[in-house]
Amino acid sequence: MEHTNLLYEGKAKKVYETDDPQQLIVSYKDDATAFNGLKKGTIGGKGAINNHMTNLLMDRLEQVGIPTHLIRELSSREALVKRVTIIPLEVIVRNIAAGSFSKRYGVDEGVVFDQPTLEFSYKNDALGDPLLNSSHAVALKLATTQELETIRRYALAVNDFLKKLWAECGVILVDFKLEFGRLSNGTVVLADEISPDTCRLWDAKTHEKLDKDRFRRDLGGVEDAYQQVMTRLLRHS
Ligand code: TMP
Ligand code: ASP
Repeated sequence: MEHTNLLYEGKAKKVYETDDPQQLIVSYKDDATAFNGLKKGTIGGKGAINNHMTNLLMDRLEQVGIPTHLIRELSSREALVKRVTIIPLEVIVRNIAAGSFSKRYGVDEGVVFDQPTLEFSYKNDALGDPLLNSSHAVALKLATTQELETIRRYALAVNDFLKKLWAECGVILVDFKLEFGRLSNGTVVLADEISPDTCRLWDAKTHEKLDKDRFRRDLGGVEDAYQQVMTRLLRHS
């Protein structure tokens, strides 16, 4: 599969067109940003880890009935995916209070919820990705009510599956962010990535952070943490 035009470059990935208009190549970078691009750095080996972890997890999710954009892994940093129009929502599922939830509601990090929470942010850097509810999303014509219902169902199913999978690796899935897209026929599929950039992953015994919070909060050992979760997942699979 040949690259042609660079279609889009984001903070952590580049997307190329291919000679098939319905297929794109995603190329994962080692670059990392936080706080809406304010903090910048690189995490050695991140691109390859995020590519392989995403592909492995999306393969497994397909097997349990959640459609994704993934076609196949192409190389250490690259995956072939179906072209989608991204629905501009960050779909966040939380099992345990952390991050912006703890800050916004004044709840200590680590408080376990009786059931998962689901929230949407409007994917819009200029506005700082504001939190919004489903009627706001419909009013802004970001998605239809029916699409939001599908997204909610898939996001909770992803949580059920990944929570169990990570638990088997000795890792607690605290929270994560998903993005969805529409294929040319309108079908909603899971897109973007599932990686330590987009999930909070804590060691089950020590609660040590094994994700991008190590970069966001200058905790050190960022590369080791990414490598550690990848190794645990590969050992399990
Ligand atoms: P938050 O607590 O900062 O809202 O983050 C919730 C989850 O979403 C966490 O696992 C990190 C992930 N996330 C992203 O993937 N991209 C983002 O831009 C932000 C702010 C969070
Ligand atoms: N990647 C996001 C940014 O740079 C934020 C984050 O993951 O914390 O804006």
